[in-house]
Amino acid sequence: MSDIFYHKNNITNEQRAVLLGQSGAVLWFTGLSGSGKSTVACLCEKLLLEDGHYCFVLDGDNLRMGLNSDLGFSDDDRSENIRRTAHVAALFAQSGAVALVSLISPFEADRQAARKICENAGCPFVEIFVDAPLEECIRRDVKGLYKKALSGDIKGFTGISSPYEAPLSPEITIKTAECGAEEAAKKVIAYADMLRTLRKMTEFAARLSVDAGKKIMGVYGTNFSVDFKDDKSPLTEADTASNELICSALIKEYGQYAVLSEESKDSGERLKADGCFIVDPLDGTKEFVKRNGEFTVNIAFSYLGKSVMGVVFAPALNKLYYAAKGLGSFARDISHKGCDNLFRDDERIRVSDKTALLTVMASRSHSDERLRALLLKNREKIGGTVVSGSSLKGCLIAEGKADVYYRTGYTMEWDTAAMQCVVEEAGGVFLQGDGTPMRYNRKNSRNEKGFFILNSIENRFEE
Ligand code: ADX
Repeated sequence: MSDIFYHKNNITNEQRAVLLGQSGAVLWFTGLSGSGKSTVACLCEKLLLEDGHYCFVLDGDNLRMGLNSDLGFSDDDRSENIRRTAHVAALFAQSGAVALVSLISPFEADRQAARKICENAGCPFVEIFVDAPLEECIRRDVKGLYKKALSGDIKGFTGISSPYEAPLSPEITIKTAECGAEEAAKKVIAYADMLRTLRKMTEFAARLSVDAGKKIMGVYGTNFSVDFKDDKSPLTEADTASNELICSALIKEYGQYAVLSEESKDSGERLKADGCFIVDPLDGTKEFVKRNGEFTVNIAFSYLGKSVMGVVFAPALNKLYYAAKGLGSFARDISHKGCDNLFRDDERIRVSDKTALLTVMASRSHSDERLRALLLKNREKIGGTVVSGSSLKGCLIAEGKADVYYRTGYTMEWDTAAMQCVVEEAGGVFLQGDGTPMRYNRKNSRNEKGFFILNSIENRFEE
């Protein structure tokens, strides 16, 4: 490999998208044989094409007749099948097409590797779990293969004599036993449509956060009074003014989506919507009151429970962090450039690649015995500490200025949604305290499990 050099195209993915009028993506369907993956993928292909989007189905069975004809069904061969297909899908997506991949892809690790391949190529990866009960697939047995597998004629058959690991954190789950192929395809198409709007949405949210920041700074310079809410957290007129501005603008521009905000009453209506804005109009009110500059405006957008767009703006520092699924993570000082032309390659941020002497992010206002014990236990791994407030903590990790942040206490959805997208799109890890994925737009907005942010999963602390 060392004698091979990557030859860069003259055109970036960004420029290609503008010239072609569409940008690529990988929609990855995983599920048991007979679950309906290929039926839904092919229906999506038809609908996308009819709507003018260039796309193509890469089907496991078909690929095994050509490119992958040398592969069987051992665990290693399946891994190689998935690796090759992921590279092909990434190439399709880089060329501007929407690649619809339909592979059993039974192992979580292989699917995660496929995700990495596509994301490293700058393409959004959407994992679609086509979830049909095994009994239903056996009952359908379209190809007659379950019968053969059950009688032992086929060895190592997925679901019978070889395992299928259900996805841990898919973007979309489709229960084909409960909804028809049409409805399933519509859900996928709606996701693809949503992806296409993220660039504009990020620009809108960025401007909005800067406008809200101006309101906040108007109060910052005055002798404002501080009230205390039921949970004893502080509230100022800056929180209220910023909230009013952000929520009214979002509702006006994006009436089809719901808004969940720290400072607005939650009617629960949002639970009916797939898409929901999650807003903290002033994150770090304690920092604001102490006047140390480390407070932010957070605007996130969650879709089917995942944070797919995040804007974090620190008005006192004029620093804007922003990210969207498939577009990457960025930072800029807006005192020089404002909010125009946001997706520039030279403003991309990335987590560090450190594996030792990690820099730990410490919170200005939260710590407890559990956290102190955790840090003590892992002291060999730690090289230093930096302190910050609000969502800046996650953003600084996304930027490579720290590597690890553990939060033991509870948080609310608006505390984490925006920075989560910034961290993930920068290549970092953001999980709940127990290692499970964080979900958004939940009935109960309080997350009891704490969370951790890492530059890389290998650096997870021993508990
Ligand atoms: S994967 O596991 O490597 O992702 P892939 O999707 O390419 O599998 O191929 C699965 C198809 O191969 C099935 O739909 C079925 O038609 C056929 N097949 C043949 N043998 C097996 C087997 N042992 N396990 C699963 N599918 C098999």
